[in-house]
Amino acid sequence: MTDVTPTSPEPGAEPTGAEDAERRAFTANAEGTSGSGTLNGVAHGRRLRPMVVAHRGSSAALPEHTIGAYMRAIAEGADGLECDVRLTRDGHLVCIHDGRLNRVSNGTGRVSRHVLAELDELDFGSWHPRPADVELVDVDLAGSAPDDPRTRVLTLERLLDAAVGAGRPLQLLIETKHPTRYGAEVEDRLVAMLRWYGLDKPHDDTGVRVTLMSFSELAMRRIRPLAPDLDTVLLTEFVRPDRREGRLPIGVNVAGPGIRVVKANPGLVAAWHRRGHRVFVWTVNEPRDVDLMMELGVDAIITDRPRMVLERIGQ
Ligand code: G3P
Ligand code: CA
Repeated sequence: MTDVTPTSPEPGAEPTGAEDAERRAFTANAEGTSGSGTLNGVAHGRRLRPMVVAHRGSSAALPEHTIGAYMRAIAEGADGLECDVRLTRDGHLVCIHDGRLNRVSNGTGRVSRHVLAELDELDFGSWHPRPADVELVDVDLAGSAPDDPRTRVLTLERLLDAAVGAGRPLQLLIETKHPTRYGAEVEDRLVAMLRWYGLDKPHDDTGVRVTLMSFSELAMRRIRPLAPDLDTVLLTEFVRPDRREGRLPIGVNVAGPGIRVVKANPGLVAAWHRRGHRVFVWTVNEPRDVDLMMELGVDAIITDRPRMVLERIGQ
């Protein structure tokens, strides 16, 4: 990649002493919390239930990938937050699903062709038809100055700050989007940032636990040596015939099927479990599909409607 100029932190860079102290100070309000601590779901009394993960934040209620959508998900009691990351032209990780800006902002063109300062001029909120009965939670939802009506682009850094600042255990499922013109640079910069926050290990004392995901097997292969202690999810909308007995590629330990895959092949969940893999299913937005996920015993339900799912499973 030629036109991505370095930003802090450099891929592979360790925090300096001063930077580390700054990070520790930042995370101090979360000290005393611990990871949610179970491998196959959330402990609830004597039984386990699936993790409920907010897909792009509480994104049925508020515009996806905005700080407001994530703060709402935290307030609703979600166990985890899902986000997609892409690189800007000047090397910043931003939380945007599509390769282009058109659907979720008043901008046009490719995310990868813009520098962060350009994205920061755009509005990422007004496209969304927020239902009338949805109340905003009391936070700096737009990330803008009080007299600025825009909802600003969300950087991964800001999302990590919010997750760490929540002061309670949170799973953070971060998906790298491919193909992209920056290739492996996305994973390099992501892991560098996680190291900076001390989140490249599963039992960080902030209570935030990161899992990495992609539809790209190559990306997951690249991640394994960079972040050997983090769980990895291979996302899939189709399961290859030779993998229907529950095999996952080397380096991947969690299956990430779409809901349609699971509904068409419900036996796959048991097949993955028999091989010792967990199963995170997306995007589960209908109450009857939540019931099916409970029957099948999946390990995480990824949803645009975390409150509905929590209520449906009796939380
Ligand atoms: O959580 C996985 C899911 O987000 C994958 O699909 O297109 O919503 O990123 P997509
Ligand atoms: Ca995603």
